[in-house]
Amino acid sequence: MKRFVLFLACALCCIGLSATKTGKQGLDIIPQPQNIEMGKGCLKLKGLNFNYDTALESKTVEAIGKLADQLYLCTGKPSSIASATGINAAGSIRSLKGAFFLRDASIAPEAYVIEVSKKAIKVTASDHNGFLYAISTLKQMMPDAIYAGKPVAGTSWTIPCCTIKDAPRFSYRGLHFDVARHFYTVEQVKRYLDVAAIYKINRFHWHLTEDQGWRIEIKKYPKLTEIGAFRSGTQQTYDKKVNDGKRYGGYYTQDQIREVVAYADKLGITVIPEIDLPGHMLGAMASYPWLGCTGGPYQVWTRWGVSDQVLCVGKESTFEFLFNVLDELCELFPSEYIHIGGDECPKKEWEKCPACQAKIAELGLKDGDGATKEQRLQNYVTKRVQDHLEKKGRKIIGWDEILEGDLAKGATVMSWRGTKGGEKASAMGFDVIMTPNTYCYFDYKQSKDETNEFLGAGYHRAGLDAAKVYSYEPFDGLTADAPKHILGVQANMWTEYIRNDKELYYMLIPRLQALSEVQWCTPENKDYEHFKAKMEKHFRIMDILGYNYRPGL
Ligand code: ACM
Ligand code: ZN
Repeated sequence: MKRFVLFLACALCCIGLSATKTGKQGLDIIPQPQNIEMGKGCLKLKGLNFNYDTALESKTVEAIGKLADQLYLCTGKPSSIASATGINAAGSIRSLKGAFFLRDASIAPEAYVIEVSKKAIKVTASDHNGFLYAISTLKQMMPDAIYAGKPVAGTSWTIPCCTIKDAPRFSYRGLHFDVARHFYTVEQVKRYLDVAAIYKINRFHWHLTEDQGWRIEIKKYPKLTEIGAFRSGTQQTYDKKVNDGKRYGGYYTQDQIREVVAYADKLGITVIPEIDLPGHMLGAMASYPWLGCTGGPYQVWTRWGVSDQVLCVGKESTFEFLFNVLDELCELFPSEYIHIGGDECPKKEWEKCPACQAKIAELGLKDGDGATKEQRLQNYVTKRVQDHLEKKGRKIIGWDEILEGDLAKGATVMSWRGTKGGEKASAMGFDVIMTPNTYCYFDYKQSKDETNEFLGAGYHRAGLDAAKVYSYEPFDGLTADAPKHILGVQANMWTEYIRNDKELYYMLIPRLQALSEVQWCTPENKDYEHFKAKMEKHFRIMDILGYNYRPGL
């Protein structure tokens, strides 16, 4: 009898899966895997024993162990975890019983294969991220209760037999976070990374410095965090002239930065820090007024917008400062790329500053060919910083303004002012990351509904909802040869009006899930109606994990 009930539960689960209006294949996986073939029947997960290849990295084994522990907590029956000696990744799943994670060097980076039979799960991949993505997919195939980490009555612990072959479309799948306009603690940043990891995001662009606050400890310049990390008030409405007069701020110590980098690494996420220069620097200039053209005094800004006060780049002492800061940054962040900002740098101060004008004369910079001599002065700054970082084996990313004038080879352009910058840069042969504000600015309001969208929703360009994000095709408008320069896509989360987690996740979800299909899926594999149906499960997962979201699609 007991057996019959179990059989019935399993059969119902499998019928339920194929009959729902959700997945085409009865699975609700986001981002949609490249290829799914459904088999017959289900695998029981209760008491499943886990085995891993000795060739796996310890962080991968840790992630597998975590899945085994979660299953144990949820099903109440222990799952063992042991190394799988003598089992070859090329072997057939038919000979296996339990869950097997086996390294296959022939599989592309970040790709994975999952095979599920009635007796076994076999996962093959060649690297940490491939295994992580297989685990994320497997969890999405399980009952939602797997995310609860505790038993949930009435849950049938099975997954359907199938074969999934999956690989990302883009190698750069980014999510940005501005922690300068509003500060978020290490624990908050980790939770942000956790949800990004579920959706196979692999780059975290950490916007650490701004006119409104400097957020990273630099040992050589302690005033950056003593002074630059705090402002005397915060603009609370759309009125730039009014602030609340309350001291506000915070920063990360270097130990905390290392902690976040290590945490992200386990999740398969590389952290790319941004020091925004030569504009957006009031945090630093308030701390060290000699960094500015007039010598100050300057204040950490209490309002939103773009300050005319920027670094004085006519003085050698400014470069000494930048190089020292970047040297400490490189010690903390092992990423191939360092983001050096470069956006929204007004040139008014440089036009008046004797030191900046002397530098222009010394360099022989001229107006013409679509750029002013001051824009060319910014090219000079970009190049010097680029050269310094190149000596340390790092590459630069800059916002698309760095393209104005003459940009040196080897820079990567982040296209944010629509798609134009990316189209131009890729046609010129520069690598590009697409973050167009027309599709990927998650601080923009998701509807024109003034009552239900809160103030924190960014007032410009209402109506950037998940459907709009989903509709983005990064290769549209590119010249024939340009797609090979598109490294990937990223969404940006500017936090002028995003003050806390409730507002943050309302802005992030479900646009994050829509973004993940833009980043991961080939156009043939995207289907918005299917995505909408799948989101029913993902809203439930977000509820279990305690993330706020904007309901409905
Ligand atoms: C930007 O949004 N200023 C890059
Ligand atoms: Zn100057």
